[in-house]
Amino acid sequence: MDNRPIGIFDSGLGGLTGLMALRELLPEENLIYFGDTGRLPYGGRPASQLRKMARQNLDFMAGFGVKAVFVACGTFSSTAAEILAQNPIPTFGVLRAGVEGMARVPGDGPLAVIATQASIDSGAFARALAERCPGREILPVPCPAFVPLIEGGHTRPGDPELEQALERYLRPVKEAGAQALLYGCTHYGIIDVAVRTYLGPAVQTVSASACAAQELADFLLRENRCGGSGEERYFTNGDPIAFAESAERLLGHALPAAVEKTAVLEC
Ligand code: DGL
Repeated sequence: MDNRPIGIFDSGLGGLTGLMALRELLPEENLIYFGDTGRLPYGGRPASQLRKMARQNLDFMAGFGVKAVFVACGTFSSTAAEILAQNPIPTFGVLRAGVEGMARVPGDGPLAVIATQASIDSGAFARALAERCPGREILPVPCPAFVPLIEGGHTRPGDPELEQALERYLRPVKEAGAQALLYGCTHYGIIDVAVRTYLGPAVQTVSASACAAQELADFLLRENRCGGSGEERYFTNGDPIAFAESAERLLGHALPAAVEKTAVLEC
């Protein structure tokens, strides 16, 4: 039994897909969420800067005495893997768990991964998929417009700007006859309905953040480290009111308290 909180962070709303998945698995855990919206988006930044930012966010979470950190961000998971691995607190990124999720999809058709530009440029998702699923065709596709669209509320199927972006990024995935598609960016689960509507039922979507939430829950259960009273605290270094509104829309309920404001760290 361990009542210390779990820290979760991302550039903005994307990590909430991980928080929601974790909350479903472990309703009693105390959670601290940090949306780094003052520095969003991450996806166009150089890897050297992203590594520094990952370290800063891990340190921020350590200040709360967390028992585990859920780095609900594909960009950090792919560009700063060694920073995550060196963290003295048990730390879970989304890359490995997402790739394992893809490996569980039966069949031998092409596997696509969509993620931020920085994640795709790192080559980490494509390498891990090729290693774990040898012989499969791997299609890595960067989708830089998705995060600004999602943060701007363009998430519903039929939204003209979103439809345009879906057509631009996912046409090659459709044409290649992909069998499964990995959301290597945690934001993308928020447009899952629109993506599945565009691609049709033949393509199975896999959420890296949901797979990572399961991995973290399995770890806590195995190590007998579960515990808490279901408390949640939310932090942002952007606009706390705007963040609260978007988060509540996504979560489908009011946040338990006002979003707390932190300083934007230099990177
Ligand atoms: N949601 C994050 C990810 O999984 C970051 C997206 C961004 O800020 O570009 O990569």
